Amino acid sequence: MRTIIILSIALVFMMAADAGMAAETQAGKPRILVAYFSWSGNTREIAKIIHQRVGGDLFEIVPATPYPTDYNACLDQSAEELKRQYRPPLKTRVANMKQYDLIFLGYPNWWATIPMPVASFLEEYDFSGKTIVPFCSHGGGRLGQSVSAIAKLCPKATILDPLSIHYGGSQTLQDDITTWLRRIGIKARGKD
Ligand SMILES: Cc1cc2nc3c(=O)[nH]c(=O)nc-3n(C[C@H](O)[C@H](O)[C@H](O)COP(=O)(O)O)c2cc1C
Repeated sequence: MRTIIILSIALVFMMAADAGMAAETQAGKPRILVAYFSWSGNTREIAKIIHQRVGGDLFEIVPATPYPTDYNACLDQSAEELKRQYRPPLKTRVANMKQYDLIFLGYPNWWATIPMPVASFLEEYDFSGKTIVPFCSHGGGRLGQSVSAIAKLCPKATILDPLSIHYGGSQTLQDDITTWLRRIGIKARGKD
């Protein structure tokens, strides 16, 4: 009988500790994933900076078959994929998406929208109840239709104010990221 009482008390304590942890991660410190696709490296650089500032895990979306390194060949292939709404299979997989609350999602603007590997990524997991924070590297076309494409693929996710970056090794990149993180209410390390 004594053993049963002691075990019951221990169980109640364990459950309370568990509930406390969940409350803290949801209300205080969200669990963060910084996921990105990058063809020529710009988005990768931005993703690394964001990751340094917000912490969490960094994840690269890598297509199973790499895109051609030739610019024009990449333009042609991606245009064709967009037209067909093709979903390229991915080489990399997030081990446990359930553990993340907040997903920073980076990509280059391709044909005024998301590259198709990003669509594959968004369809591969359940983003219901999660928060997605888009950041887009572009050559002048800013976000294009990319955010509405994300919203269409993840109708049950909350999407925060995105960051668009005309990337050319910009001097203001760090400050732009700081201002943006502050605007969307994300606590960041350094440069504040
Ligand atoms: C296939 C392809 C399509 C692109 N389409 C656009 C576009 O529609 N609008 C735009 O502003 N930039 C466009 N760009 C330029 C990229 O968005 C820009 O160079 C970006 O910084 C590349 O990021 P990355 O180095 O991470 O791949 C395109 C580039 C490629 C390769």
